[in-house]
Amino acid sequence: MKKKFDYTKPWTSPQRYRAYKEYNTDYVTALTDAAIASRYRNSYHIEPATGLLNDPNGFSYFNGKYHLFYQVFPYGPVHGLKSWALMTSTDLIHWENEGLKIMPDTIYDSHGAYSGTALPLSEDELFIFYTGNTRGADQSRAAYQNGAIYDKHGKITKFDHPLLTTPDGYTNHFRDPMVFKVDDQAYAVIGAQRSDETGTVVLAKADNADLTSWHYKGELHFTDEKLGYMVECPNIVLIDQKPVLILCPQGLDKRICDYDNVFPNMYVVADALNLDTPELVNPSTLHRLDDGFEVYATQAFNAPDGRVLASSWLGLPDIDVPSQADGVQGILSLVKELTLKDGKLYQYPVAETVSLRQAAQKLTLSNRPISQDTNSYELEVELSSSQTLYLFANADKTSFVSLHVDMVIGKLTLDREKLPVSWAEDYGYTRTTYFDTQSEKLKLNIFADTSSLEIFVNDGEKVMSSRIFTEPENTHLFADNSVTATFWKLEK
Ligand code: FRU
Repeated sequence: MKKKFDYTKPWTSPQRYRAYKEYNTDYVTALTDAAIASRYRNSYHIEPATGLLNDPNGFSYFNGKYHLFYQVFPYGPVHGLKSWALMTSTDLIHWENEGLKIMPDTIYDSHGAYSGTALPLSEDELFIFYTGNTRGADQSRAAYQNGAIYDKHGKITKFDHPLLTTPDGYTNHFRDPMVFKVDDQAYAVIGAQRSDETGTVVLAKADNADLTSWHYKGELHFTDEKLGYMVECPNIVLIDQKPVLILCPQGLDKRICDYDNVFPNMYVVADALNLDTPELVNPSTLHRLDDGFEVYATQAFNAPDGRVLASSWLGLPDIDVPSQADGVQGILSLVKELTLKDGKLYQYPVAETVSLRQAAQKLTLSNRPISQDTNSYELEVELSSSQTLYLFANADKTSFVSLHVDMVIGKLTLDREKLPVSWAEDYGYTRTTYFDTQSEKLKLNIFADTSSLEIFVNDGEKVMSSRIFTEPENTHLFADNSVTATFWKLEK
């Protein structure tokens, strides 16, 4: 008789931090079977075999391949003892699972190898900067900013000392170093909480070329507003020479920038980055990076081919999702290219994504639902008048996700109230985004996968990324008014 486990039962702290080797074969087999059989498993998104995935980490190009690590707790769908898992790819679409690479196995990361980034040091060595989470016997937290080298044979060698410890004036909520280079000099931005429990971003500078020694430069100034109580996962990229800072200011006052999710993922664009003062010169206000239900911890980097590439966690801290019953939760977004147009940040799936397309189908959507027998597809629609589209629908139109387009005010509303299961109810059932109405046309590229939906408005002017949990047979599409669309089944 196979044992059954309830993965949704609350996990105590000792259970979350239990050593990996303590999980027995019965447990791991049952967990693997449940997660692999999950009806919510996506077909072309990065998703863990078992357990919980959260932030993308160490996104980089090294040894002829893109490297994309992610935070994982492999033994349950909860935030437990975290490691870094690695995926590699030559085309950003087909990913090879390289397994766990950074494990919580030293005194400087005993309670989790937390988020961080990577930067190639040479053809043979990828430098990794990450946070080691530790807890004392009294549960008190200490954070270390640790270094490691990942070599081209796939081996990790951790530095024997932390590269940075938490400076005076900050709590131990100090994490997620993002390493980047300007004119051959390496810097890092780190998310932090000041002792007065306000959030900020701290800049550090490397003292040498092998990145074994670092010192703090001070806080990076880019706003006079209070950044909530903690900033997580800051990233800096240069797009057309302009710095773009991406960050997750937890507890940000909604009067500064409104958002509906538990925590926001935001960005600021500036004219220049002054690394001495240190500040963003002429920064914009804070903008939401994405207007969907689940998006967080976006990590971006300047790739050697000149593109700026980004990956997001389609999930949020403190939010439970239905797939947890199957022992699995969290997926990564499609890889997006970031560009600037007239000072606005655009995000769009990388050009390689079209290689997932099967034969194009012209569809006429009307109020009679059509079944596509799959929820893994791209749908392209151009609209010139107001309309409501329905996706993930059942045959009798009682269950669906709706997308209401108001062409007069340039407003798009995503509504998931009519799904058969609900989650994160406290944060509402709708999300809204606004688009430019000048062209009097709206183009939508909608990427659905079994349990996810990424909507790109006008080639990436706005993005709405969300998880969608429904029954496998709910693959119908319909619309209030008749409209033609192009449909591609997407397959790896
Ligand atoms: C963001 C985050 C990071 C941390 C990691 C731990 O989701 O809380 O700040 O490093 O997750 O998994």
